[in-house]
Amino acid sequence: MVNKISIIGAGRVGESVAQILAIKKLTECIMLIGRNEQRTKGIALDIQETASAHQFDAKLTGSNDISNIKNSNIVIITAGSPRKPGMDRADVLAINLKIIDQIMDGVIKYAPDAYVIVVSNPVDVLTYYANQKSNWPRNRIMGQAGILDSMRMSSFIAMETDYSINDIQAMVLGGHGDTMVPLPRFTTVSGISIEHLLDRATIDKIIQRTRDGGAEILNLKQKSSAYDAPGAAVSIMVEAIVHNKHRLLPCITMLEGEYGQSDIAIGVPVVLGKNGIEKIVELDFNTEEQKAFDTSAQVIKGLIEEI
Ligand code: LAC
Repeated sequence: MVNKISIIGAGRVGESVAQILAIKKLTECIMLIGRNEQRTKGIALDIQETASAHQFDAKLTGSNDISNIKNSNIVIITAGSPRKPGMDRADVLAINLKIIDQIMDGVIKYAPDAYVIVVSNPVDVLTYYANQKSNWPRNRIMGQAGILDSMRMSSFIAMETDYSINDIQAMVLGGHGDTMVPLPRFTTVSGISIEHLLDRATIDKIIQRTRDGGAEILNLKQKSSAYDAPGAAVSIMVEAIVHNKHRLLPCITMLEGEYGQSDIAIGVPVVLGKNGIEKIVELDFNTEEQKAFDTSAQVIKGLIEEI
């Protein structure tokens, strides 16, 4: 358990993260920062009042003052404008860039020793920006996307087959967008690649549904993007850091030559523990996988050039 985790952005993702971190008993204090002070206090109090049901001791506080993130071990950034149906994640770049810029001023000032997890979209570009602006070592500022996308892929495999979700391990790399790279060769049911277990048409269907996973939820809900699964995905990263689990997970990190890429933040397999991103694991891609990864990297680089 760590002493304090701050969540910046009291929208539905921020609220979901706060609730799950409390239930999982990952920290003593949860500081939720939102623009609307009363609303943010209300969310924190509502979750606090679940403490007896879930038997957690964490203290939750809501505030609109970013200086309250001081002494945080981990800061999670969920603030930003969500996309509306029909919009791409990149369509919210300009507005969310301004928001992240201000937030990073606060993070650098008040929580200079924290580990930072960026969740706001477009998450690859914003993770890049947060790294560039802070100039902190890259192990401390990372983005969440690959865990969510892999969770979705695992769910779709379970739905398409009779295999248990407990045995399915999916691996989705690249950018968090239409060009994300679900990797069937590295996606397994109890260690057996799905390429050995499923026919090509089923795999292709699962890959497409994974790529469209965020849009599918948005189109169904209309007024909101996903937040339950994103919140759960963030909690996996926090758990790995807090409990020093050295988990091998797909996360967004700055590359410095790995995968033939540099000056970019993109999803790759990393080892996540108490030192944040402790290692980047380089997979031996085949030609098709490398091409898909490079295409995804090109799209992120195109967006980075816009900032
Ligand atoms: C999603 C959004 C949150 O994938 O990026 O649901």
